[in-house]
Formats: sequence, structure tokens, C-alpha cells
Amino acid sequence: MQEYTRAQLALRNGQDRDEIWVAYKGEIYDVTKSRLWRRGQHYEHWAGQDLTHELQDAPHTAYVFDKFSVVGILKK
Ligand code: HEM
Repeated sequence: MQEYTRAQLALRNGQDRDEIWVAYKGEIYDVTKSRLWRRGQHYEHWAGQDLTHELQDAPHTAYVFDKFSVVGILKK
């Protein structure tokens, strides 16, 4: 699986580049097609980042990632 740095992930914020990626527990998910992540914004959260810790603020669990494909691994 391809590894991406935080800087490479940061570009995939739906603004600098069209792709909208979010990292969760070391895996990078492509949520570009999600109506809930338009222009990289999801409520007060922004794509192009590792949002593992932010999930505790969400009214949902990580099951929301099930339907999205993993495009890479976040480099430590
Ligand atoms: C204030 C915080 C948040 C609120 C109010 C919120 C709200 C929601 C709601 C209402 C949905 C639709 C759930 C469903 O279809 O059952 C959703 C989906 C989703 N959320 Fe959040 N969320 C929050 C934070 C987060 C965080 C921090 C992440 C990432 C770690 C995240 C990732 C997602 C994803 C990937 C989806 C699925 C989108 C789709 O189905 O198109 N959310 N969120």
C-alpha cells in the first residue's frame, strides 16, 4: 500500500487538489464522493488531516468509513 506523508495528505483537502482524503488510525480514506465532505469540510472538521482524535467529538463511530476505499497509509 502506498505511503503518504502528512504534507502529501494536506494537499488532498478538496481545495489545493480535488481529492478529499482523511486519515483515521493510520489509514487514508478517499471521501471525495461524499456529500458530507464537500470542499473538504465536514461540520467543523477539515480533510487533508489525521482526524483520529477528533472522532470522539462525532455523533457517530468509525463505521462511517466502511464504504470508503483506503488509498494509502499515513507515514509515521
Ligand atoms: C462535530 C463532529 C461531527 C459531526 C456532527 C458529524 C456528523 C456526521 C453525520 C450526521 C454523518 C452522517 C452519518 C450517517 O450517514 O449515518 C456523518 C458521516 C460521516 N462522518 Fe461525521 N461528524 C462529525 C465528525 C466527524 C469526524 C471527526 C470524522 C473523521 C474522523 C467524521 C467522518 C465522517 C465520515 C467519513 C462520514 C461518512 C460520510 C458519507 O457517508 O458520505 N465525522 N458525520
